[in-house]
Amino acid sequence: MVQITINESRILGTRDKMIYGHFIEHFHRQIYDGIYDPNSPLSDQDGFRTDIIEAMRKIQVPILRWPGGCFVSSYHWKDAVGEDRKPFFDKAWRVEDPNTFGTDEFIKLCEKIGSEPYICTNAGTGTAEEMSDWVEYCNLENEGQYAKWRIKNGHQEPFNVKYWSIGNENYGSWEIGAKSAEEWGRLVLESAKMMKHVDPQVELSAAALPDVDWNLNLLKHCGEFLDWISIHEYWDMVPEVNDLADYEASIAFTQNIDHAVTEVRGLLQAMKLDKKIKIAFDEWNLRSWHHPNVHTIKQGIDKKDYIDPRDKNDDNSQYTMADAVFTASFLNAMNRNCDIVGMANFAPILNTRGCIYSHDEGIVLRSTYHVFDLYVNYLGDTIIDSWSSEVPSMTVQNKSGKELELESLDILATKWSDQNGVALAVVNKDPDNNQTITVSMVGNGNKVTLYGINGESKNSFNDVDQNEVVIYKEALDDFENNMEIEVKPHSVNIIQML
Ligand code: AHR
Repeated sequence: MVQITINESRILGTRDKMIYGHFIEHFHRQIYDGIYDPNSPLSDQDGFRTDIIEAMRKIQVPILRWPGGCFVSSYHWKDAVGEDRKPFFDKAWRVEDPNTFGTDEFIKLCEKIGSEPYICTNAGTGTAEEMSDWVEYCNLENEGQYAKWRIKNGHQEPFNVKYWSIGNENYGSWEIGAKSAEEWGRLVLESAKMMKHVDPQVELSAAALPDVDWNLNLLKHCGEFLDWISIHEYWDMVPEVNDLADYEASIAFTQNIDHAVTEVRGLLQAMKLDKKIKIAFDEWNLRSWHHPNVHTIKQGIDKKDYIDPRDKNDDNSQYTMADAVFTASFLNAMNRNCDIVGMANFAPILNTRGCIYSHDEGIVLRSTYHVFDLYVNYLGDTIIDSWSSEVPSMTVQNKSGKELELESLDILATKWSDQNGVALAVVNKDPDNNQTITVSMVGNGNKVTLYGINGESKNSFNDVDQNEVVIYKEALDDFENNMEIEVKPHSVNIIQML
């Protein structure tokens, strides 16, 4: 039995809703044959799949990062606006992109979902000037050729895009136009200056690494122009072990899940920038990715025949309760770090290893989707103090076969800034055992309701015509100090006391 005590009058921080953000890339079936499919009977007059939009609205998607990823590092935005769209060969994923989905379509998508747009610029083959021209197109009222071009394209009002990222993973050898630390510092400085000269209201981020030299150089050169520092992490980078979702190995990754935040926080503090620059964890996910380098834009290939043997990202059986438990553990950690983490973007939102899977006839909500639904819709925005008696530990083998000891429960206490009540997020990582918790509160609670996600088995997953992983609601007894609540094995739970 684990005793949890909550002190609702002691506030530890207020999280920004942007930590429940997402990412969509011109990669695989995320855009074309994904959200944007003008030929589908399920699409609206603008070419967007209405079933996907509806699912995205339900998890609110407070901010959406686009267009890449690696894709952006040879992307030229000017070829994808206006009447004259020029198809181009996407050198990151080695397919033709028709450029029929560009900036105007992205902004329309954000409007339909109700998301804040977050544009990532080309710092691979692109220039500081091209980046600042993009800000002109989006944010200037009517001065200059680019704002006038937007107006000509039917958008009288500026898009007012506030969040911009300079480049993607430009430190990586895999990225087109990768840079050395010195080159990066210079390019970010010049780009940031020009972008802020166009619109001083924009907030800028640039890629950091959990690497002291790279970050030091970036922050020394550009700290004064940056509002965000961007970090990425995928926890399963070995494609061979990704074939089957191994629950224990996945859960092993939850140990020290916020190490990158801790490292970057330390550096920001040492440089006295922690009050100025926040962390944007703008790509994260449990699963790594294979290289699916076909998509249906390759004309003449019947969709049924186009699955490439390497294209395992879209195999729904890989996205199980392990992904749900991992995702909830990550979100708990970001909530706890909410003084410095202002944004996080699950990568990606759709298809590949996303939380929504789409096919010709409909969509599948994978286990991770339900975690966002729970956290966005049932958990408070204010992190409050809680403490617990000793939590039972569990032993798991990590992907290299090494044994690790983990606490089996991950508990986060919250309340709301705009309504009364308290909500606990309780993640039970234990694959096989229920856990009983007792809850006491310094403060009041009333009606207690548990919203949970639990698949019958730790390997449960959703697929076309298979809905094993769902959110359920259970009304519990009225609140009383020391009340006992049982949580199921391999489960994600929100317990509201309203
Ligand atoms: O999502 C695939 C790639 O993963 C992204 O393009 C890149 O940013 C990350 O390495």
